[in-house]
Amino acid sequence: MSRLRFPADFAWGSATASFQIEGGVEERGQCIWDDFCRWPGKVFEGDNGDVAVDHYHLYGADVALMARLGFRAYRFSVSWPRILKEGIGEVNDVGLDYYSRLVDELLEAGIEPYATLYHWDLSTALQRVGGWASRDTASRFVEYARIVADRLGDRVHHWITHNEPWVVAMVGNLYGTHAPGWEDPGLALQVGHHLLLSHGLAVPVIRQASPGSQVGITLNLYPTYPATTSAEDLDAARIQDGFSNRWFLDPVFKGHYPEDIWALAGAQVPRVEQADLSIISRPIDFLGINYYSRHLVASDPSGPMGVQTLHPEGEYTQMDWEVYPQGLTDILTRVYADYSPRAIYVTENGCAYEDVLTSDGQVHDAKRTAYLRAHFAAAHKAIAQGVPLRGYFVWSLMDNFEWAYGYSRRFGIVYVDFQSLRRYPKDSALFCQSVAQENAVVLD
Ligand code: FCB
Repeated sequence: MSRLRFPADFAWGSATASFQIEGGVEERGQCIWDDFCRWPGKVFEGDNGDVAVDHYHLYGADVALMARLGFRAYRFSVSWPRILKEGIGEVNDVGLDYYSRLVDELLEAGIEPYATLYHWDLSTALQRVGGWASRDTASRFVEYARIVADRLGDRVHHWITHNEPWVVAMVGNLYGTHAPGWEDPGLALQVGHHLLLSHGLAVPVIRQASPGSQVGITLNLYPTYPATTSAEDLDAARIQDGFSNRWFLDPVFKGHYPEDIWALAGAQVPRVEQADLSIISRPIDFLGINYYSRHLVASDPSGPMGVQTLHPEGEYTQMDWEVYPQGLTDILTRVYADYSPRAIYVTENGCAYEDVLTSDGQVHDAKRTAYLRAHFAAAHKAIAQGVPLRGYFVWSLMDNFEWAYGYSRRFGIVYVDFQSLRRYPKDSALFCQSVAQENAVVLD
């Protein structure tokens, strides 16, 4: 048996996102995910976020539950259309008050709030005038960020501008399986650029409104491995890594797009104005990394960008994502070596499995516990190698609306009965509780 201790001030937390948990639809403006849910065939069984797990009304009990589980940090997102119903214009005080109460409640419970400003719920009104394809949306985002940081900035000391701009750009605009649902590579890259631009523009504004706070961005990253050591497979891995990782990391940390992928994109490259990359690469305080799995790739001239993604033998979650804890160590050490962020947080990591609620209200989710234990240990390995990892947020606090999968995938460490909305901590929540309380992971 070995016991892996984490650094003294390590932030153990859980993560959620507004659209996935809040509900309270009558008190916010419409967003692109409301629309996407109504688009036949796009979201599992036409599920929607009208009620979700009603965190908008049940937040008090949810914060109390987090505190009981021993968490000292919580990553949530602010719904832009709850603050500005049309994305711009008059402030919806009810919405701003709600987040203010949530933050107070967290602080009273001894839980440090980490606020994400954009976790995918763009106002429908802004989408109608182009959404993220329009450069103007970047300026609108900054106005919204200023309003939120002005109100919460005295109490929120950790800000994340965007969650997973790669997913917003590519899954929403190239693959079409997320809102707004388009399939256009040029559009996707332009959206990605405007997301990055809005990030860079917002950084100083947030700092000004929330003095002394830490500001960062969250990227979803995939360590990428070649199937063999052939020159072709190594090249395929470089391209895949460039597309999924460097396309966002390089602008943020190095002030340029990766040349190899820029060349591959040909006529689809985004329109970039002169000062954009110096704005995008303004220094940030931390990088958030969402890690779920890896890419194993081979060269395949008929595949997209000449790459084929393999499905190796191994263990898979209900999402069909390979369980690969070593990938977390690898991505953390690689990102630190190549980009030297001042600090890193794992802002999401977790898994979906088919959970069973027993008649006495328990969920014996041994696979999720094993998954988390292995990934915590992988993070510890990276810390031992010098990576400045400051915290770890499990995705997710509770079962919720899993985007295109609706309510058919459960990522929570707390089970939610979607009918009664009752919460039941799973065994994995009790495991996280012991880890957070002891600030250590025990391996057998
Ligand atoms: C991430 C999202 C998060 C959740 C997990 C499973 O890509 O940021 O909202 O859906 O995947």
